[in-house]
Amino acid sequence: MSDRTPVAIAIDGPAASGKSSTAQWVAERLGYRHVDSGSLYRALTAAMVRGGTSPESWTAEDVVAQGARITLEPEKHSFVALIDGAPADDEIRGTGVTANVSRVAVMPEVRSWVNEQVRRAAEAHDVVVDGRDMGTAVFPNAPLKVFLVADPWERARRRLTQRLGRRPTDDEVAEETDVLVQRDAKDATQTVQAKDAVLLDTTFLTQAEQVERIVALAHAVSHRPTVT
Ligand code: CDP
Repeated sequence: MSDRTPVAIAIDGPAASGKSSTAQWVAERLGYRHVDSGSLYRALTAAMVRGGTSPESWTAEDVVAQGARITLEPEKHSFVALIDGAPADDEIRGTGVTANVSRVAVMPEVRSWVNEQVRRAAEAHDVVVDGRDMGTAVFPNAPLKVFLVADPWERARRRLTQRLGRRPTDDEVAEETDVLVQRDAKDATQTVQAKDAVLLDTTFLTQAEQVERIVALAHAVSHRPTVT
């Protein structure tokens, strides 16, 4: 890469709004790397779950201490969160971690630790970062910020289809919608739409369409004249 300052594109939004898969795809299209900030909250939570202590007793100090076991491994178009040097993707996406990640994510010391890892990953690479507050807390000067939203039922339907590998029943979608809405409520304070973010409602878009729109926006901002 040249000696110009690396670019960070921020994609934020609520649970299961498609941020990570979209960010990954956009990163591939632009030749950037994807950083999934949620995977760091999940990896810290998974490390705590492995310890077997009751989640109610977890302190910010305990959680941040697990950070020493977690690294972000650069790959061609992404950074992958490793625990003790090994990938743990299924574990960090599992229900035990998902049910407890929000309690970890509200801890300010934990947020500082995650934000520091994300900033470091973005120091030497152009990145597409996704999360809840990337466009506000971590990259307030990002040239492109996108806030993805979608109807809760549709988000639940997509997440279940991905998890089950089949079409979910209406009862299953209703149950998952409940779980998502509860997690949205727990994450509400840290889910912040930047004033200058482009709001993209993906309820009626395919994933390819939403990727196309973000790639087009990225091209548009890279040609925008610099205002001095
Ligand atoms: O994929 P999904 O939207 O379900 O979640 P995620 O992006 O993997 O994030 C998992 C959890 O991490 C969220 O429920 C939040 O509690 C937390 N998180 C956060 O607080 N701030 C971020 N920038 C990213 C994730």
